[in-house]
Parts: sequence; structure tokens; C-alpha cells
Amino acid sequence: MDAMTYIRGIIVLVVITCVAGDSEPRSRSRTILVGDSQGWRAGTNYTQWAIQNSPFHINDTLVFKYPQTGVPVAQSVYLLPNMWSYITCEFRGAKLLGNATDAGFKVELNQHTPYYFASAEGNSYDCIAGLTKFIAVPRPFPH
Ligand SMILES: *[C@@H]1O[C@H](CO)[C@@H](O)[C@H](O)[C@H]1NC(C)=O
Ligand SMILES: *[C@@H]1O[C@H](CO)[C@@H](O)[C@H](O)[C@H]1NC(C)=O
Ligand SMILES: *[C@@H]1O[C@H](CO)[C@@H](O)[C@H](O)[C@H]1NC(C)=O
Repeated sequence: MDAMTYIRGIIVLVVITCVAGDSEPRSRSRTILVGDSQGWRAGTNYTQWAIQNSPFHINDTLVFKYPQTGVPVAQSVYLLPNMWSYITCEFRGAKLLGNATDAGFKVELNQHTPYYFASAEGNSYDCIAGLTKFIAVPRPFPH
């Protein structure tokens, strides 16, 4: 996949996460388990998961859990500073949110900004392949 195709894919995703779900307005924030019962794993396409769980809203809480056994574990979760670092998998300036020594952790989406999550596993191999990363764009609740 060349870079432009990838960037177009990202832009489509951001647009989807911004407009999806208008027909079902909610007024309460959710607690959402990232990856559902599978948790946070290496080599997994979380973009699909993010689309299915969109839209995200302000004050929704994302819960990251590491699976116990039997699957490749993605040790780290980083919050990247912007879309460019997300696309290029540049982890300088990224914030480590959790690693395999943590049982799991929560992130509250309390800012009006896209959240760029990615694992740095295998020298960013997953990230560069477009895996074990996703964008959450919290929206305000409808009035
Ligand atoms: C989000 O949470 C903060 C702090 O608890 C609260 O002040 C704010 O009103 C909440 N925003 C929404 C949209 O619920
Ligand atoms: C990562 O692992 C270390 C122990 O090696 C631990 O002290 C730290 O709290 C963990 N989490 C983060 C977010 O750094
Ligand atoms: C992940 O899933 C999304 C949505 O189905 C798709 O557009 C994207 O190409 C997939 N990425 C990879 C690396 O398979």
C-alpha cells in the first residue's frame, strides 16, 4: 500500500468517525473495552473495531486490557501527538500510556481532539503495517 492510499484511508476513517451514528443520539458517556473481549493484541486491525464502535463521545472511557495467554501480546500503548506521527509511526514525543507490566488501564476522552493510539511493538512493525493502532475522535453530545 503506498503512502497516499494509506493517508486517504485515514482521512476516510476520520470522516466516518465524525459523522457516523447521527441517527442514534446518546446523552450518556460509555465505557468501551478496546478490541472487545480480545483486548489489545499485536497484529490486529483496530481500525475496523474503531469504525464499529464509532461515534466516540466526549467523556467516553476507553479500557485497554492485555489478553492473558495464547495470543501475541502488544506490550505497549502510546498516545501519538498528531496524525503525521500516527501515519509515519514516529514515536518521538509520544506518551506511553501502558505496557505489559500493567494489567490494563483507562483513558478518558475528555478533550475535543482526535486521539491517536498505537503500539510500538517490533520496532513499529505493526504500526507501519497499519495494525494495532486506531484513531478515536470524540464528539460533543447533541443538544
Ligand atoms: C465531561 O466531564 C467533565 C468532568 O467530569 C465535566 O465537567 C463535563 O461537563 C463533561 N462533559 C460532557 C460533555 O459530558
Ligand atoms: C511500564 O513498566 C514499568 C516497569 O518496567 C512500570 O514502572 C510503569 O509504570 C509501566 N507503565 C508506564 C505507563 O510506564
Ligand atoms: C483495516 O480495516 C480497515 C477497515 O475495514 C481497512 O480499510 C484497512 O485497509 C485495514 N488495514 C489493514 C492493514 O488491513
